[in-house]
Amino acid sequence: MSVNQLIKPITAEWKENLNIGGCDTVELVKKYGTPLYVMDEKTLRTVCREYKEAFKNYNNVKMMYASKALSNITIATILDQEGFGFDTVSAGEIYTVYKAGVDMTKVLFNGNNKTEREINLALDLNVGRFSVDNFHEAELLNRLASGKGKFIDILLRITPGIECHTHDYIQTGQIDSKFGFDLTQIDEIVGLTKNKYKNLILNGLHAHIGSQIFEIKSYQDEIKILTNELNRINSTYDLNLNELNIGGGLGIKYTNLDNPPSIQELANVLEDVLNEQTKNITIYIEPGRSIVATAGVTLYTVGSTKQVPNGRKYVSIDGGMADNPRPSMYQALYSAEVCNHRNSEEEIVTLSGRYCESGDILINNIKLPKLNSGDIICVYSTGAYNYSMSSNYNRVEKPAMVLVNSGQSDMIVNRESLEDLVAREVIPNRLRKE
Ligand SMILES: Cc1ncc(COP(=O)(O)O)c(C=O)c1O
Repeated sequence: MSVNQLIKPITAEWKENLNIGGCDTVELVKKYGTPLYVMDEKTLRTVCREYKEAFKNYNNVKMMYASKALSNITIATILDQEGFGFDTVSAGEIYTVYKAGVDMTKVLFNGNNKTEREINLALDLNVGRFSVDNFHEAELLNRLASGKGKFIDILLRITPGIECHTHDYIQTGQIDSKFGFDLTQIDEIVGLTKNKYKNLILNGLHAHIGSQIFEIKSYQDEIKILTNELNRINSTYDLNLNELNIGGGLGIKYTNLDNPPSIQELANVLEDVLNEQTKNITIYIEPGRSIVATAGVTLYTVGSTKQVPNGRKYVSIDGGMADNPRPSMYQALYSAEVCNHRNSEEEIVTLSGRYCESGDILINNIKLPKLNSGDIICVYSTGAYNYSMSSNYNRVEKPAMVLVNSGQSDMIVNRESLEDLVAREVIPNRLRKE
């Protein structure tokens, strides 16, 4: 089984309580409080190695971790140690990998509206590649690079006419997307980079066809379209472009309803199109979710419960939509377990968050052992797009994150304090109390 086909981290086991990374979750909660993001280092490193193993026969395939899934200095350090480059989309993500001591030539800067400040930072830190998303950016990047006397390696972000999410995948002539150049705009931008934007060095093309993808045959179509386009550009403009970035997207198992293909299956599907035609092309893949999701769990404490007469039973936990916005944003499903007992008596409850929105429901209708106030709940596969999408809604402090491995736990992100919440605020003098 590939890690992305598991709901739980590979180290999850029952002893007296639920253990993860050799650590008793109840002890973790005593030490660090809740809500608590827990990252299991073994699971994280195992999935990185699965990617490397699956693609080991293609020395033209390079792995970039999509930082947007989870970005902090420790995670960047681990991914760097595992040999991954980084796809980044903001000054914050770039600065994070920089602080982790990453070789910045292994970093790609991507995004549909990079600001001048962000581009300048990326140029000053010598970020290795820019994925140029639109005409405005090409002009801006060329101007800023020229001002610094730099020549910048770029890819062109394109929308290849494939859209894929979980089971559906469609190929259309045109996709209505805010990202990238439409296929019909490619000649114009290639002409501009060749003849006008002298500080931009065009290396190839970049695309991303969706997220939580189970239908991995869609990548074959994507690579075919990108390769054809690359060959067409090379012959039309007498160029030698030799890089394709095919984006991320491999799905993971959040609940038993999910049946994602393995990382090896992804590599096998790509084998069919990584052929003679592409052997001189460097192919970048940039998974995010499938790298970090399964390694992460979130621990919560149960507080109040409410039985609606003749209706649902709500069990409220001390977190919710601010630490995990995915269920309220797009009805994402999760699996959960009680950490501190395995009562045989079970009941169906709705795990609700503590935030002031009726939609703040973490899991609808889940069967769990009968819960009491003070019980600890573990929600699985929260490593991706949870911490990175978290907010301070309701003025609640963001949770801490710990890294666990072989019975050791280390704080990697401190819990926010009330002082942190007000630290950057300034009261205008005229409003101050004497
Ligand atoms: C350009 C690009 N690359 C990679 C990713 C990572 O996708 P995933 O986390 O689904 O692997 C995304 C996600 O939105 C993306 O936009």
